[in-house]
Amino acid sequence: MKYSRIVGTGGYLPEKILTNQDLERLVDTSDEWIRSRTGITQRHIAADHEMASDLALHASRKAIEAAGIKVDEIDLIIVATTTPDMVFPSTACILQDKLGARNCPAFDVQAVCSGFVYALATADMFIRAGKCRNALVVGTEVYSRILDWKDRSTCVLFGDGAGAVVLSQGDQPGILSSHLHADGSYSKILSVPGSICDGKVQGTPFLIMEGNAVFKFAVRVLEEVVYEALAENNLQSSDIDWLIPHQANIRIIQSTAKKLGISMEKVVVTVDKHGNTSAASIPLALDTAVRDGRIKSGQTVLLEGVGGGFTWGAVLLRW
Ligand code: UT7
Repeated sequence: MKYSRIVGTGGYLPEKILTNQDLERLVDTSDEWIRSRTGITQRHIAADHEMASDLALHASRKAIEAAGIKVDEIDLIIVATTTPDMVFPSTACILQDKLGARNCPAFDVQAVCSGFVYALATADMFIRAGKCRNALVVGTEVYSRILDWKDRSTCVLFGDGAGAVVLSQGDQPGILSSHLHADGSYSKILSVPGSICDGKVQGTPFLIMEGNAVFKFAVRVLEEVVYEALAENNLQSSDIDWLIPHQANIRIIQSTAKKLGISMEKVVVTVDKHGNTSAASIPLALDTAVRDGRIKSGQTVLLEGVGGGFTWGAVLLRW
């Protein structure tokens, strides 16, 4: 029986920090409103020349180094992103070239804020099917490019960044189970319904969101998917050592933890410093808790996320 296991993590945040005080000068908002409604105090913003693949490259190099493998040992690259460098080639192919990786399949996954969970579940299946040994799985986003910086209800929420893991074949799990869901009938409550091409605007190429509807939907499905993951593994929520939720809003995170009876001390929170980095948020939070020594060998870790589509999912793993 083949299993997959995360053997290295990496993260990258662009140098520029945009604080709530900076945003007070851009739109009619306040540090107090943003902190009390979302828990966010700052977010990182990519430089003009930085694309999703550049952020991904930094995070990937760190994950590969932590895994102790060589670039040419990577035999699958999956990039989760909603803000690709271009329509095609995929950001995964661009990343492959920048890394100098050769002769491996590379493709993008588009599941918005659930993208990393979708990508990790996909890589796990490749490994368990014996189709690859070392997968590079990345979440990378430059949401600053798809925000309407005049819309205070959305521009204060998001940030840019990338997180990556190397998932390798092993004799022991590793990933215990993955659970993916989607319901396209909720597509209108969170979307970017347009594009810009050659300076021509089609539709609305910026993020629009019915915040309240998204909030309620997120709290409901996250609880459901966590219980689904626990039930499949005959575990209780008290068996979870670390919950690594998608980092959209501290109130969603607290509400999910409370419903599950998990103390906030067991929840990894980065939304305060990163904002919502969509597909990058879970691997960035994971990398933070691995590098600061919170996550230890043998512990049970649950990743969960929800995003536009709507999509949602969870991955339960033993570290
Ligand atoms: O990654 C997955 C996708 N995203 C999410 O999961 C986000 C889910 N939703 C949320 O996190 C919350 O719904 C928000 C943070 C977006 C909004 O919080 P809320 O408590 O649901 O506030 P609200 O939308 O009900 O707005 C309350 C008030 C409104 O004013 P009125 O109508 O009560 O006078 C808004 O106009 O707050 C106003 N408002 C703001 N005020 C200051 C909205 N944005 C801002 C702002 N600064 N930035």
